[in-house]
Amino acid sequence: MKNILTIAGYDPSSGAGIVRDVDTFFSLGIHGLSIPTCTVIQGPKGVAGTYRTPLKLFGEMLNLLEKGLPLNGIKAGVCCDVSYIRQIARLMKGKNIPLVIDPVMTAKNGTKLLTETGIQALIKILLPLATIVTPNIPEASRLSGIQVQTVPDMKEAARLILKKGPKAVIIKGGHIKGNPVDVFYNGTEFMQKKKRRINREVHGTGCSFSALIVSYLVLGYSLKDAFWASEKMMEEALKASYRIDKKGYFYMSTGIMNRLKVTDKLEIINHEKSIDGSTGRKDHPGNKAHRDR
Ligand SMILES: Nc1ncnc2c1ncn2[C@@H]1O[C@H](COP(=O)(O)OP(=O)(O)OP(=O)(O)O)[C@@H](O)[C@H]1O
Ligand SMILES: [Mg+2]
Repeated sequence: MKNILTIAGYDPSSGAGIVRDVDTFFSLGIHGLSIPTCTVIQGPKGVAGTYRTPLKLFGEMLNLLEKGLPLNGIKAGVCCDVSYIRQIARLMKGKNIPLVIDPVMTAKNGTKLLTETGIQALIKILLPLATIVTPNIPEASRLSGIQVQTVPDMKEAARLILKKGPKAVIIKGGHIKGNPVDVFYNGTEFMQKKKRRINREVHGTGCSFSALIVSYLVLGYSLKDAFWASEKMMEEALKASYRIDKKGYFYMSTGIMNRLKVTDKLEIINHEKSIDGSTGRKDHPGNKAHRDR
């Protein structure tokens, strides 16, 4: 069994952070391990506060996993501050496995999730160790030092960020005007994924995307193929996003998306059985899942 460790925030509503990541790993047949850098008080209406994991506890969890288990890949999301970043770098020592960095700096409502010295440490210590870094538009502006607004800006920023050490950069275009465009750059080639904007505020899109990338890398995909495979999964998972409350953000889950696919298959089987005159049931649990979507 392959194992991926995610190190990021804990969201008790399971829409982002380590729970979202582990859901992604499991849905692709990879065992997920998780260590929270912080607990983020959040739900469908946004973030109300954050509490860092005590460093001693964080370090002990890392040591335990590191000593006891072979790791095939690591994803880092919310890093909070320089001390957590140093420990992630220490964990990577002597390991030749994919490291995907989602350089989260703030939550959707502007709550700071990485300090200024943390940003400096991320650039100096983590980017040189990264296989792929996946900034959104504001993060790409901060990491590159240029104001990113358009696709040509995204390409220029990707060039500048690549110089800081990662093997590839993917700038996510959820925050640009109009339809989103994601830009991939590996130092020799640019690729772009243009998409149709889904008219929903979906929670955890960035976490889901970087969790997909590290999963495909661990499954043996090349950097470019991991990009395309993740884009395809994101499109499907965004379409299958759902609300956990009447109002607020939509949530997404590749686990639930796969379950819906299984349900679709079950419905087809049951439909065929009922045509056959055998035991097809009209109201098996799958139909309810469809009504709830
Ligand atoms: N409204 C949308 N419609 C279609 N795709 C979207 C939409 N919003 C984001 N995406 C896609 O979702 C992925 C994540 O991009 P985004 O720019 O939202 O990251 P992020 O800001 O880091 O997310 P988060 O707010 O979860 O941290 C990208 O592949 C992006 O193109
Ligand atoms: Mg993000």
